Amino acid sequence: MGLLIKHAIIVNADKIWDKPHDILCIDGKISQIASSIASANHEIIDATGKKVLPGLIDIHTHLRQPGREDKETIETGSRAAVKGGFTSIMCMPNTNPVIDNAMVVEFIIREANRVGLCNVYPIGAITKGQQDGELTDMAELKASGCLAFSDDGKSVLNSRLFRLAMEYAKMLDVLIIEHCQDPLLSAGGVMNEGVVSTKIGLKGDPGIAETVTVARDIEIALYLDARVHLAHMSLKRSCELIRFAKSQGIKVTAEACPHHFVLTDEACSSFDTSTKVNPPLRSREDVEAIKAAIADGTIDCIVTDHAPHTKEDKEVGFDGAPFGLIGLETSLGLTITELVKPGIIDLPTMVDRMSSAPARIVGLVHKGIIKEGHDADITIIDLDKEWTVTLEGFVSKSKNSPFIGRKLYSQVEYTICGGKIVYRA
Ligand code: DOR
Ligand code: ZN
Repeated sequence: MGLLIKHAIIVNADKIWDKPHDILCIDGKISQIASSIASANHEIIDATGKKVLPGLIDIHTHLRQPGREDKETIETGSRAAVKGGFTSIMCMPNTNPVIDNAMVVEFIIREANRVGLCNVYPIGAITKGQQDGELTDMAELKASGCLAFSDDGKSVLNSRLFRLAMEYAKMLDVLIIEHCQDPLLSAGGVMNEGVVSTKIGLKGDPGIAETVTVARDIEIALYLDARVHLAHMSLKRSCELIRFAKSQGIKVTAEACPHHFVLTDEACSSFDTSTKVNPPLRSREDVEAIKAAIADGTIDCIVTDHAPHTKEDKEVGFDGAPFGLIGLETSLGLTITELVKPGIIDLPTMVDRMSSAPARIVGLVHKGIIKEGHDADITIIDLDKEWTVTLEGFVSKSKNSPFIGRKLYSQVEYTICGGKIVYRA
């Protein structure tokens, strides 16, 4: 017995299918797609009127386990993921202990399998303890399940070390994800450096902290003919640098987060600490540039940078609060509402940026497309259904969202992972 999705309007990155089809999932795979498949004794989902997408993939999440289970666990994070339509997530290594050895990787994979909601792929640290001093054993980490490496939360400031990491990553065919923010230039800034920071008297983090790192990493990628993936791009200038690098054939890919294409630094005027994030919310001009870069493919994919923090940790002055906001449960709604509905991107492009491109970038070859033989990871949405973000509605352990009260389009109706229903509205 399998799972049979009836009357599906399939949306892949290349097109929206014009006629409804049935999709049969057996043993975790999409076994058949046809105009009509006999019900037999399969479990049935009627997808009439809904859009059926390849399961969303978030290659930038923070799960906080091990170490800060009061903020999020693999279980609560997985629950938030599937509620948001994600079937695969990649978790960043800034845990305690850091994901810098096989034991931590194996623990996360084991726990994610026990929870059994979505695929969880741990990202290994580039440097031991994320201390920017000594490289981790990337080969060992790859063997235990890491597809990508990052010191996210901070840059690898030591350029020689970063070069070496890129060389090893090229040899091992794994991805390096760089958090681009020179801490010497950021110098304790808590929001974007600009008119708003001056007006409200908060210490600014200048855009050059990001762009000098973007430029350095592009140069190293060119020199080594190696791949680099740039995390959470927030600036117009970063997009220009990436666009130019791509035009030169340099192997750079990049991601952006919904908060960077929805909110400007004006949001910090509320002193709401859920608007404090790294990199910071930027100017209107930057927001518009990020949207254009997502549309033209300069930015390859959309990620959440889901960064849960407790109420206690966030309920302090703006200067003292930790950086970050939660994103797994609002990412799809924000993207549909802010990019798809206004016509900045169409639905297939959204599927590319939120599923196919992330799968391609990290090498998940059987994901990101609804196709016979591929993994049965599927997200079914009601595109036009409106809902309001509420604090009580979040299943994430932390509630630090600046989007509470916002009306969003598109409701996740079902999330299916490996042919199993893991969420239903
Ligand atoms: O705002 C952020 N929060 N940015 C990061 O890079 C790290 C993250 C976290 O771990 O809280
Ligand atoms: Zn992050």
